[in-house]
Amino acid sequence: MTYVADRLAAVKPSASMAVSMAAKALRAQGVDVIDLGLGEPDFPTPPHIVEAAFKAAAAGETLYTASAGTPTLRAAIAEKFKRENGLDYLQDEITVANGAKQIIFNALLATLNPGDEAILPTPYFVSYPEMVKLLGGVPVTPACPADTGFRLTPEVLQAAITPRTKWLFLNMPGNPSGAVYAATELQALGAVLAQHPHILILSDEIYEHILFDGRTFVSFGAACPDLRDRSLIVNGVAKAYAMTGWRIGYAAGPAPLIKAMNTVQSQSVTSVAAPMQAAALAALNGPQDCIAQFRAAFERRRDLVVAGIATIPGLTLAPPEGAFYAYIGCAALIGKRTAKGETLTDDTAVTQYLLTSGVAAVPGTAYGLSPFFRISTATSDAVLTEAIARIKAAVAALEPK
Ligand SMILES: Cc1ncc(COP(=O)(O)O)c(C=O)c1O
Repeated sequence: MTYVADRLAAVKPSASMAVSMAAKALRAQGVDVIDLGLGEPDFPTPPHIVEAAFKAAAAGETLYTASAGTPTLRAAIAEKFKRENGLDYLQDEITVANGAKQIIFNALLATLNPGDEAILPTPYFVSYPEMVKLLGGVPVTPACPADTGFRLTPEVLQAAITPRTKWLFLNMPGNPSGAVYAATELQALGAVLAQHPHILILSDEIYEHILFDGRTFVSFGAACPDLRDRSLIVNGVAKAYAMTGWRIGYAAGPAPLIKAMNTVQSQSVTSVAAPMQAAALAALNGPQDCIAQFRAAFERRRDLVVAGIATIPGLTLAPPEGAFYAYIGCAALIGKRTAKGETLTDDTAVTQYLLTSGVAAVPGTAYGLSPFFRISTATSDAVLTEAIARIKAAVAALEPK
């Protein structure tokens, strides 16, 4: 007797979730651990957004909605794409789901045939390869190392393309690297894609607003308008408005793709909870000042972490350009021994050692590029300062090779 389907055999649970769970378990035993595993803003959702959900529920917005999302929310999303990204989409080119993750899941379920390939520039968001595998596809994971700013280059893209390529994923600012693409870099990738009309492009722009050093965000859709009928622009309210638990993501793309995704949605969750959609509407249409406040806090914390890591011999970190993670190189630690005599053989061993030193971080292996570890910088300055002090002490306590 087995409970589990074959398709699940190769799929791993989320590594960042697993790290967080391990940290929680240690804390429950009384161990003092700082959890820098999961990435979610530590700010409360702005009150006007919370109120909008209450009001909607009290006013009877408690029924199923259209699978694609309420017409008013889709109109607000169309307006957001116009206002912030210079993109024109009609309502039947927009869909809403329970988070950007479900948007991606719906898109892959709607499009992947067995053996179809998805190119995932590496390091990648942990869920991408697992979703691709779960839905019968094959992840193709070209390395995009630190010396190219963790960005996909046209040459690396070209080499990864095969007749089975169905999707190219882009994620900017990137999780875990923070990498951002300039319009010219996107256009250079677009020039390669123009020669391969069988490829769809998924641009995950969920960290759009968390961008540093005065950069302006360029959507893939704006950089490569000629690829509009092959592009799915993915976004959501989770990171921009401190709304991770509200579970609202959305996307804009060609109507036939959106229609297929809506079919998946209608036969699975039916629709997103109506009061949550009202909250997302308030987020998109309401005051936008929280975005600048959150962004400033994340930039200050980014600076704090970059300065702190620079004082630790053996660790490397170029300033992340966006998002709220630091993807820290730890090549110089590999092969070193702990005071207990254990050798740090890889980045998983490094994060296990850091956990015993009071900091939970995620190993680079979870993102496909080693040896690195990721910490989330979405926590208070005081907690980050203490975490860096612990990492510094732990590294200093290692025996030389
Ligand atoms: C790159 C990326 N895409 C999507 C998501 C998930 O977004 P949502 O909470 O809207 O499902 C995350 C969350 O960590 C992410 O890092």
